[in-house]
This record gives sequence, C-alpha cells and structure tokens, in this order.
Amino acid sequence: MKGIILAGGSGTRLYPLTLVTSKQLLPVYDKPMIYYPLSVLMMAGIRDILLVSTPEDTPRFRELLKDGERFGVHLSYVVQERPDGLAQAFLLGESFLGGEASCMVLGDNLFHGDGLTSLLRKALLRAEKDNQATVFGYSVKDPERFGVVEFDSEGRPERIVEKSPHPQSNVAVTGLYFYPAGVSRRARSLRPSARGELEITDLNNLYLQDGRMHVQVFGRGFSWLDTGTMDSLFDASNFVKAVEDHQDRMICCPEEIAFQNGWIEKEVLLASGKAMEKSDYGRYLLKVAKGRDER
Ligand code: DAU
Repeated sequence: MKGIILAGGSGTRLYPLTLVTSKQLLPVYDKPMIYYPLSVLMMAGIRDILLVSTPEDTPRFRELLKDGERFGVHLSYVVQERPDGLAQAFLLGESFLGGEASCMVLGDNLFHGDGLTSLLRKALLRAEKDNQATVFGYSVKDPERFGVVEFDSEGRPERIVEKSPHPQSNVAVTGLYFYPAGVSRRARSLRPSARGELEITDLNNLYLQDGRMHVQVFGRGFSWLDTGTMDSLFDASNFVKAVEDHQDRMICCPEEIAFQNGWIEKEVLLASGKAMEKSDYGRYLLKVAKGRDER
C-alpha cells in the first residue's frame, strides 16, 4: 500500500497567515499541521509516501520533512501546478503508485480516537485483499460544507453528494480515502466538475456504483477536525492542547509512531530529541526514547 498526502491549494481563507507559507505548514498547537496526516498514514503502517503540493510550497515541505528517514518512512514529492481537484493527485501520482493500492489523506485533516489504528489497518486490508475502497464518515453540524453520504431506505450508502445546499444526511465524508489497485486508471475517466475540478466525490461514486465502496462511519469516540478556516484552525490547536495536557502524551507525533512501529532505532529518536531539546517537542522525544518509566 502506498500513501499520498495532498497538501496544495491556495489557502486564501487563511490570508494573511498563508501569504508566504503553506496552510499545511501552519502550527496546530505544538507541531506543523502536516505532521497530523503524516501520522495517520504511518499508523496505518504505510511507509512509502508521496507529498503533493504547489510549486512554491513543495520545496518548503522538502526542507521540513526531507526524505522521511528520521520518521522511518520514504517520502517523495510531486508538484501540482494548479489546484485542479483532489482526484488529480492520482494522475500526478500514477507512476509513484505503480498500480498498487493506495491511501490518500488531505494535508489539513486531523483524526484522533481510540481504535483508529485498527480501523485504518482494516481499510488497508479491504483495499489490498478484497479490492474494496473505504471512505470514513463523520456526523457534522454543517454538512453543506462537505461531501455527504446519502443513504437508501435500508440505511445503505447510495451516493455521495458534494456540497449540497440541502444535504440528505449529516454524515460528511472526511479527507481520508483508501482505494484498491487501479485508482489512477479510474481517475483518468473523470471530467472536471462545474467548478472546474476533478472531484474526489465523483471518483468515490464510481466505487459506490460498483458496490466496491465501504463507508466506515466514525463513532462518538472519534474526533475529526479539518483546519481550513481561522476558527477551525484555532479550535484544532485548542483540541490538541486539551488532549495532550490531559493525557501527558502527544497526538500524532510521527517520530513516536515510527519508534513504536519499530521503524527507527532508539538512537535516531534520541538524536531528533537532542536536536530540538529546547522545545517541549524535543524533550518529549527524549522521554519517549528513554521509556515512560524513566519519565
Ligand atoms: O475535508 C473533507 C472534504 O474535503 C470532503 O468532505 C469533500 O468531499 C472534499 O471535496 C473536500 O472538500 P473541501 O472543500 O475541504 O476541499 P478543498 O478544496 O478545501 O481542498 C481540501 C484540501 O486539499 C485543502 O487543504 C487544499 C487541498 N487541495 C485542494 C484542491 C482542490 C489541493 O492540494 N489540491 C487541489 O487541487
């Protein structure tokens, strides 16, 4: 399974914050936003990851994340010249995917909850072994802002509708998608929508129509935050701070996940911690490396 992080777009809703940097590099409390979706792919067990971003921002991501070695992953980069739609990532990433199953996560989406790793790994197996795609639904107060799942009278997912002014349900489709092998071929059959984009919702509806789409609705124990507006960005920082303070553990710390997965040695974690020793983040890495008992 290969992973894609889509981290482009113009970020205009966050001006002036994003005048000279990417939205997905802004802080969400104690770490750059991109660490959160990166962590989700790593929790799923995915190590070969492509980051898609704008011509201006791709070098900035490369500077921050490099080749991924300190996170125990392999990162590659590709430029999206214009924000022509989420599904374009599968065209830009076609040679990277090499026909394999894939998972795409949006660079501004944050997921947290007990049992997330197990749900991710089930979705991965569904894509690799059962040839089934998976999207994750989440109940929201403002479904008109999202792609929304419509259900038939028996409660089976029937179609996904993008930003409907009158959504039939409040189950939004989150920015995390698993596809079986061959998604780039399917993405090639899409045509731009009325707003001129290759829509991920159109791609998802192809799988739904074939009966090859599983809709996994997150329960009450999960939190999904997208950080596309000033308010939601602020809320996300508050959320992460509240959870981390309460639990004395970090949410979505890629170095920690890599260490737990056995992808990096203790020495690598110690070196990362030492390099940032003056920050809480660096000291946290040192504590993780030394083991919780010694903290
Ligand atoms: O967040 C979940 C929602 O994401 C889904 O419910 C919708 O079905 C899906 O269309 C998408 O809706 P958004 O309105 O949030 O999409 P937006 O255009 O804001 O793009 C999402 C992120 O992807 C954003 O951080 C910018 C980035 N992006 C977007 C486009 C269109 C790219 O990197 N490239 C692009 O071409």
